[in-house]
Amino acid sequence: NSPRIVVMAGSSRREALSRKVAAACIAPLAAAGADVDLVELADHPAPLYNGDLEVESGLPEGIVSLQQRLAAADGLLVVNPEYNGSITPLLKNALDWCSRPNPADRARSGGAVYAGRAAAVVGTSPGALGGMRVLFHVRDILGYLGMQVIPQQLAIGKAGEAVGDDGCLRDPAQREALDKLAQALVDTARRLRR
Ligand code: FNR
Repeated sequence: NSPRIVVMAGSSRREALSRKVAAACIAPLAAAGADVDLVELADHPAPLYNGDLEVESGLPEGIVSLQQRLAAADGLLVVNPEYNGSITPLLKNALDWCSRPNPADRARSGGAVYAGRAAAVVGTSPGALGGMRVLFHVRDILGYLGMQVIPQQLAIGKAGEAVGDDGCLRDPAQREALDKLAQALVDTARRLRR
């Protein structure tokens, strides 16, 4: 059966450019043989991580359900806006919460939803560089979490104009790069699947 790939954008803004690009990643991943699960981080709300909250109330419901979706996946594609050269606090908060063990589910101990899975990173920006700088940070963070981040990456500049009315990337060179990234991610996810 097909490797499952979670796709998520690092912004939950209604008109988020990263969400439009994340949606444009679905078809290339499906064409590469993936079963795609598009995660909207707004559907998994969590307060800013604080250890007291965790001790007093455990993991937020939105995090437990996000952990379940990540645990069911073989790979992760993150589409990143760039905030001051790095990842968004929304994404970091979700990644941090999901790295915490769920005492109600011993199998899903800290980091278990990430380790040994495939990952790929895409940057987006209304500017020219396409979030090139965030890619280094997010690659490092996912690697720290034990994910195997594939070398293929894509920085999509002028992201407001990057996606056409058909929901696909307009630029043929970018489309080809995304197709290659999608295939590499699916192949790696399949290879790493236990
Ligand atoms: C930005 N923006 C931005 N853009 C960029 O290319 N490099 C950067 O370092 C930053 N830094 C930054 C910091 C903060 C706090 C904000 C709010 C914004 C602009 C950013 O790319 C733009 O707002 C995008 O539209 C945000 O992504 P979404 O929400 O459209 O996906």
